[in-house]
Amino acid sequence: MTLALNNIGHLVTNDPSIGNGPLGIINNAGLVADDEGKIIWCGPQDQIDQYTEAQPIGCDGCAIIPGFVDSHTHIVFAGDRADEFEARMEGLPYAAGGIQSTMLATRAASDELLSLNAQHLAYEALSSGTTTLEVKSGYGLSVRDEERSMRIARSITTETTFLGAHLYPTDVEQEHYVDLVVGDMLNACLPHAKWIDVFCDRGAFDVDQSREILKAGAKAGLGTRIHANQLQRGGGVQLGVELGVASCDHCTHLTEKDIEALSSANKTTVATLLPAAELCTRSPFPHARHMIEQGVTVALATDCNPGSSYTTSMPFVMSLAVILMGMTPDQALWSSTQGGAQALRRTDVGNLCAGSRADLVVLDAPSHIHLAYRPGVNQTRAVVRGGKCVVGSL
Ligand code: NIG
Ligand code: FE
Repeated sequence: MTLALNNIGHLVTNDPSIGNGPLGIINNAGLVADDEGKIIWCGPQDQIDQYTEAQPIGCDGCAIIPGFVDSHTHIVFAGDRADEFEARMEGLPYAAGGIQSTMLATRAASDELLSLNAQHLAYEALSSGTTTLEVKSGYGLSVRDEERSMRIARSITTETTFLGAHLYPTDVEQEHYVDLVVGDMLNACLPHAKWIDVFCDRGAFDVDQSREILKAGAKAGLGTRIHANQLQRGGGVQLGVELGVASCDHCTHLTEKDIEALSSANKTTVATLLPAAELCTRSPFPHARHMIEQGVTVALATDCNPGSSYTTSMPFVMSLAVILMGMTPDQALWSSTQGGAQALRRTDVGNLCAGSRADLVVLDAPSHIHLAYRPGVNQTRAVVRGGKCVVGSL
């Protein structure tokens, strides 16, 4: 069925050619999508009759934005790490090793439980406006458990990432584990995977191992992305740029040289910032405004996982980005939608241009600025995915 909306007080299209400023904002707008869930037209509402015969649904002057593109999550896991969080809040530092305890819980869980947990988190994300979700494996760390994690991820999204190289499991010799990842594990996961990722950091995989793993994934036909510079200044970002990965994620500890490298690669490689991970691990926040001024393409994502960032809320991430990382509300909105799409090399989501998917959020707010301005408040009135209302009502 066609979707026709009017009386949209503030429509963010992310298409500067059809609206004002870099976000392409149209006030008092209308929008029409076809019965395949693709946008046909966005523009001044008094022109809507030229694009549809359907009776438009009025939006009471609310704001509409493109659905969020959360390009970095780890939602296939069992158990939680509330105890670790409590200990950290009492002063213990965050370390990569905590992944091991989620690995044990994940291995012990049934397919049904893992699936239900992931579906629950995916629904939580959708309810706060995330219409495109990337999901990684990485808590199985054996051929069997990575394969089933990827299978479950694939039942939730097409943006699936094989992260067998998340941590060395204690039951395989370190020198054999990389061979396993690029061999049997990659082969088993390949049918369910679109991307390959590596945790290149202290306590996880070094630069040479990461290069070997990402190259093996690329050779097998996967797109590449990397967890880089989360725990220390290392070579992860430089490696990501060298390999032309779609995204270097975290970027918590960057040198000016790293920023220069990301800037010189800004058409190919996005820097995906994950401020909820900095918040929940009490780490310093990267200076997003400075990165953007230097020409880096920046995306925002949740990093939803039980260790470093147990949130699915992109609006909350936007608040952090604006209040604590120096981004403007416009930059945070762009990075949470179009930036995420670019990090996944998608052009059909993250914007409301003609031909794109009708994935959008109707806000109980007069503008997108309210997302950052009202931290932690649910302002989602409705979520539309592929032209259909899937959360709330229109
Ligand atoms: O992106 N950095 C590596 N992986 C996750 C955290 C994993 C965990 O602590 O369980 C992250 O922050
Ligand atoms: Fe992560």
